[in-house]
Amino acid sequence: MADIHSAAEAPRITRREDYREPDWRVPEIELDFQLDPAATRVVARLWVQRSSEHDRPLVLDGDGLTASRVRVDGVEVPVEMDGPNLVVRLSGSAHLVETEVEIAPERNTQLQGLYASNGMLCTQCEAEGFRRITFFPDRPDVLSRYKVRMTADKARFPVLLSNGDPVGSGALDDGRHWAEWHDPFPKPSYLFALVAGDLVANRSTFTTMNGREVQLGIWVRAGDLERTHHALNALETSMRWDEQVYGREYDLDVFNIVAVDDFNFGAMENKGLNVFNSRYILADPDIATDYDYDAIAAVVAHEYFHNWSGNRITCRDWFQLSLKEGFTVFRDQGFSADQGSAAVKRIEDVRGLRASQFPEDAGPLAHPVRPDSYIEISNFYTATIYNKGAEVIRMMATILGPEKFRAATDLYFERFDGTAATCEDFVRCMEDAGGTDLTQFRRWYSQAGTPRVTASLKQEGGRARLTLSQTVPPTPGQPDKQPMVLPLKLRLFGSVTGRPLCDEQLIQLRDPTAEIVFESIPEPPVLSINRGFSAPVVVDTNRSARDLAFLSAHDDDPFARYEAMQQLMLDTLVASVTSGRPDHDAVIDAVRNTLTDPALDPAFVAEAVLLPSDSFIGDQMALVDPDAIFAAREALRRDLGREHEALWRSAHEAVRNNRFEYSPAGKGARRIKNVSLGYIAASGARDAADLALAQFEASDNMTDRQGALGVLVSSTATEQRATAIDAFYRRYADNALVLDKWFQTQALSSRDDTAQAVEALAAHPAFTLANPNRARSLIGAFGVNQRAFHDVSGRGYRFLADQLLALDKLNPQTAAKLLPPLGRWKRFDAGRAAKMRAELERIVATPGLSKDMFEQASKSLD
Ligand code: PHE
Ligand code: ZN
Repeated sequence: MADIHSAAEAPRITRREDYREPDWRVPEIELDFQLDPAATRVVARLWVQRSSEHDRPLVLDGDGLTASRVRVDGVEVPVEMDGPNLVVRLSGSAHLVETEVEIAPERNTQLQGLYASNGMLCTQCEAEGFRRITFFPDRPDVLSRYKVRMTADKARFPVLLSNGDPVGSGALDDGRHWAEWHDPFPKPSYLFALVAGDLVANRSTFTTMNGREVQLGIWVRAGDLERTHHALNALETSMRWDEQVYGREYDLDVFNIVAVDDFNFGAMENKGLNVFNSRYILADPDIATDYDYDAIAAVVAHEYFHNWSGNRITCRDWFQLSLKEGFTVFRDQGFSADQGSAAVKRIEDVRGLRASQFPEDAGPLAHPVRPDSYIEISNFYTATIYNKGAEVIRMMATILGPEKFRAATDLYFERFDGTAATCEDFVRCMEDAGGTDLTQFRRWYSQAGTPRVTASLKQEGGRARLTLSQTVPPTPGQPDKQPMVLPLKLRLFGSVTGRPLCDEQLIQLRDPTAEIVFESIPEPPVLSINRGFSAPVVVDTNRSARDLAFLSAHDDDPFARYEAMQQLMLDTLVASVTSGRPDHDAVIDAVRNTLTDPALDPAFVAEAVLLPSDSFIGDQMALVDPDAIFAAREALRRDLGREHEALWRSAHEAVRNNRFEYSPAGKGARRIKNVSLGYIAASGARDAADLALAQFEASDNMTDRQGALGVLVSSTATEQRATAIDAFYRRYADNALVLDKWFQTQALSSRDDTAQAVEALAAHPAFTLANPNRARSLIGAFGVNQRAFHDVSGRGYRFLADQLLALDKLNPQTAAKLLPPLGRWKRFDAGRAAKMRAELERIVATPGLSKDMFEQASKSLD
């Protein structure tokens, strides 16, 4: 393992400003794999070309590789290494360089490069995994045409897949067989993939907008075939959607997806051969929740959309990662919004942004959407690159409007097709097609931190005066910030008549402060601002509880309506934490109004009546007191449960016997049913546990079963709780994806003994760190359970650090992603902060720490 560093030697920092064009191009590559889990032989033939007048050797990246031989134009040359890399001295401007290495996929626990998972062999190359397979200039701006030949044991690996189109296959003696695939589209090495396994496909054909036939296949183990229909359907829907909404047509004759059980991320967009974490493919009502169904469709769409935003146009260097990820997330969000309720989708996306990106932007790991430096690029697959990046695209779409935005994306796809581009290239297309100057807007790419807007509205005679100001907080390495361009949608409503007092306006706040005057305002106005979450900012207003309650009932923008309710809940909870004297009346009334409004979509109602999470409440406070926050939130939940008990019961009862149907209406019914069950339990009703257990036992789908399990796991009803936990385990003991839910639900419990329970679960025979989904289901979930993780004893911190150190030895990439909860020490009291720091220090001082963990832990100490 070449990647292991002791903390004492400083790992190398890669900087954006150091970008240089590659010295050598590799227009063609042929790869020959003799596949075997224990020892795979890889022969690579690279047709290389000197890219300019220089006399530098060809340096091929390697990671843990040893070349058994190197040939230049057919002649063997001595092997020369520079650390992990291979140096080849070349005299001319074009040569054929051939290398041979041997690798051991079954010993690859990092799951980068070629590895074994449940009997199959597969690859993961983004960002720098290809160098673990063969020597190559492993950077996204070196594009090559690939020809791949695989040979393997036919019984163990009857299916052999790679990028592009199949061009031949055949049997060999000794039980082996071969297959060859050619990909006509030049691509960077991170998009290379191969899969070998005993797999079956759910197949379909798709006819593109220009009448071309594409063979689709979703490849899984035989027993999972029936669980691939939803994913296949989502693939066809997203292919059509990209044609209709972005004019993008698929370009190969084949599109394959393979589901893999051991996978570091969600999925990977390899050209023509997407590889997926099986959790984002497999679904049926018995094993997948509505959330899973939605996530599967979103990830299938996301990876498919990368074929244009990522593959046809890729990134010049990894600092440009958001060029493909931010844009592609924006595209998959648009797709999902079009499949059901756009309002609910926006609410979910903003909730996700606030749960993951805002804390990142406010902590020690804050970085710009286009970072300036990194130690390990794997650490930069973050909520900032993905989700804030998507918000940045969304703001440009808002500023340009739909027609110009479409013209701008057309221009981008045309201008940069077949190239490795930059974020700057994208913005330039927005400017050129949009006829607008985005000079100041570009700060969204360079400045980290969540901007804060203060808005105060005053009525003076027949006018209203809105005063706005903005600040961007300091972040690591960026103490001083310039003002941003903030597109804010706003509207005023009359607090007496409830009528809108003006049309919706889009203003662009560019200065530190600004004032807007509204004429002819006949009645006291209420401000609806940042409608649709038009800018990813925090807005502080002088709106009263009455104003917020009013908007939660009358605003015509569903997001703003949800937001007003959230703000009212947050204000109420923060006040009750700080004053200790709760006043729940305004929230109780507002929730009643929402619950009893027959015009509202049940899915929306269910989102709107949910309280903000413990950690989001904590994010509002300079000093987080997890126990006080939990107590305040539980008290409000109890009051809401009691005051509206009859409403929750009738909402629950009304849909209790629904049969499963995956449709927006079906999902909405299950959502309100489970939210209601939660409030019935919060009320302290004596029959709550029985009601939950009855739902658990009677439900015909995982959404309702896991919903009931979640309620019981947090309950003090010992008997019903144990019954459900045991029954769930027994029923799903042989389904890894569902067992993940069993671990996760328990790690998210709000019970007092959760920290101990999680320690015990880590010793459960079904727990393993070797599978990333399983590790995340327990350790990742525990890290976001604010109260349990911050147990005042510090045992949660110690537990996390122990687990991360163990996981780092197997899989540094997955370990490092689970560290951030420990880095939030500045927000906690001195006792907790000292304990958190002590664990970070222990991690940094550990010999043999990976550079992934070193970067995350050392930055978290600053
Ligand atoms: N590029 C993948 C995606 O967003 C994410 C990924 C990164 C997967 C690195 C694996 C490794 O779509
Ligand atoms: Zn992506």
